[in-house]
Amino acid sequence: MTHDPGLDDERSGAIDLRLWMNFIKHLKPHRRMAFTMCGAGFGLAIVEASLPPLTGMMIDEAIEQGVTNRLLVMGGIFMAMMMIFAFTVWLFIKAAGELATGVAYDLRNGCFQRLQELPFSFFDVRPTGWLVTRVTSDCAKVSDRMPWVLLDIFWGSTMLIGICTAMMIIDFQLALWTMAIVPPLVIATWIFKRRMLASSRDMRRTNSAITASFSESINGIRTTKSLNRESQNLDEFDGLADAMRGHSMRNALQAAVFLPIVAVLGSIGVGIALWKGGVQLETGTGLSIGMLIAFMEYAILFSMPIQELSARLADLQSAQAAAERVQGLLEEVPSIKDSPEVLARLEAARGTDGPPDGGEQVVETIEFRGIRFHYKPEEPILENFDLTVRKGESIALVGPTGGGKSTIVNLAARFYEPNEGRILINGVDFRDRSLEWWQAQFGIVQQVPHLFSGTIMENIRYGRLEADDEAVRNAARQAGAHEFIERLDDGYEHDVGEGGELLSTGQRQLISLARALLADPQIFVMDEATSSIDTETETLIQAAIDEVMTGRLSFVIAHRLSTIRDADRILFIESGCILEDGTHEELMQANGRYAELYAGQFAGT
Ligand SMILES: Nc1ncnc2c1ncn2[C@@H]1O[C@H](COP(=O)(O)OP(=O)(O)O)[C@@H](O)[C@H]1O
Ligand SMILES: [Mg+2]
Repeated sequence: MTHDPGLDDERSGAIDLRLWMNFIKHLKPHRRMAFTMCGAGFGLAIVEASLPPLTGMMIDEAIEQGVTNRLLVMGGIFMAMMMIFAFTVWLFIKAAGELATGVAYDLRNGCFQRLQELPFSFFDVRPTGWLVTRVTSDCAKVSDRMPWVLLDIFWGSTMLIGICTAMMIIDFQLALWTMAIVPPLVIATWIFKRRMLASSRDMRRTNSAITASFSESINGIRTTKSLNRESQNLDEFDGLADAMRGHSMRNALQAAVFLPIVAVLGSIGVGIALWKGGVQLETGTGLSIGMLIAFMEYAILFSMPIQELSARLADLQSAQAAAERVQGLLEEVPSIKDSPEVLARLEAARGTDGPPDGGEQVVETIEFRGIRFHYKPEEPILENFDLTVRKGESIALVGPTGGGKSTIVNLAARFYEPNEGRILINGVDFRDRSLEWWQAQFGIVQQVPHLFSGTIMENIRYGRLEADDEAVRNAARQAGAHEFIERLDDGYEHDVGEGGELLSTGQRQLISLARALLADPQIFVMDEATSSIDTETETLIQAAIDEVMTGRLSFVIAHRLSTIRDADRILFIESGCILEDGTHEELMQANGRYAELYAGQFAGT
């Protein structure tokens, strides 16, 4: 139930300018929108900052002269400015919205593309749910906020500068008096925003714990009920709900204190302007009535950009962790990728008919030479591992769980790279061949085959996208899947559901076998494809395996030894070592571990 802290921290630290400056580059493709938006914010601030003196001038004119032509002209200007005001608001909302959508699209695409390129080892340490959150909510959080922050920085700072300048021009001394509220306003904002940020972060954390607790207890409801653990689960949930209420109350209270403080400070500013200006007015030494009103309007307006700016900075701060994670994902360099030399050869071969990376196309041998490999440094899996397999050979890997069988085929397919030693294809290090070409030579059927939502036809065709319907049917026949598919109401057009959930494991197995056969790979891998299926499906798969193994280089990992009796070579693997290597007959004769295992399996049946 605990999450890896390294994966899931929300920081409350200072705003990381470098990170955000780096993020600005995502706006580049949309720079016209960004400029439009900032321009609109700028224009809006100018209009807003110049309205008060215009109002003041109109009031003075009306008091001193009555309704004159000049007053009408000023009224006209006022109307025009209101229209510009409305237009700029419309423009920046539109531009910010388009910018947010555009950036979100780019970020998601970027993350998606990166996820396709990253090797298995990347996914080993990151839960799927965590990755989904990165691509969905983190991208949205960042792209939704960034335009508004940018806009408010332009609008707010223009506005502040405009207001201060205008006040100082109107009456320097009075301006200084009014601005006396700025320091307390900034301090109060700073203190409260920090606290509110902390309490809302606690709220979010508790909320995700509640969500996790919900989904865990729903997923595990059968286990919970059968073990009679309902009340313990309820207690745990109660604790979380209590914490949530505490955090929410704290957050609401902080808001309830903060907003009045801001309002009071604002009124104090207006009060100071009114008092000082009023005294001047009385003694006839200072402002006109109109200008005093303009001044008071400024005093009211003053706290607005400060509020907005601090709110946007808080937004930025709370989106920072999301931005860091998105940026981290975008910058993640795939640890398994083509070397510069291979890339150069691929580039040179582009457009010609020759082999894409200049190497041989037919795989004659695969050699493991002195391989040392570990997933985690403290847990070596293979040490000094040697193995040579040839075209046409079918290799069965058997032995206890955790012995390293899957690891061996994962290394062969370069899903991982050895920490030491070399893997050679026809005598050439596999790192000197194109990764894409090499992996395309493999057809792999896994223990828990994955189907994509869609029809059976689409799922099989995934093995070779340009295959026609007849080729798909042929592959299904070869795999022994054709009959059960025909028995379904809508046959090949049957919808398999999300992840294939509407089919049984055996059926999924047959479809994924057909998919692998359609690709017609040089190297075939079946990793415990027969361990979780019924005997009827097993018979079907057995027939398909025999078909697949003839003439191909194949690796079959099986628990049920009956499936691999006909393999050319059977390797007994334990603790990363090949203990026995030979045909079924040879190993039975040797009367070693394989023979023991075999006798054990058949004693039971
Ligand atoms: N992705 C992984 N990350 C860390 N350890 C792993 C990973 N996959 C396998 N292992 C470990 O490597 C060892 C060999 O596993 P594996 O090759 O899957 O064995 P087998 O297929 O023979 O059951 C086991 O101890 C297993 O726990
Ligand atoms: Mg395995």
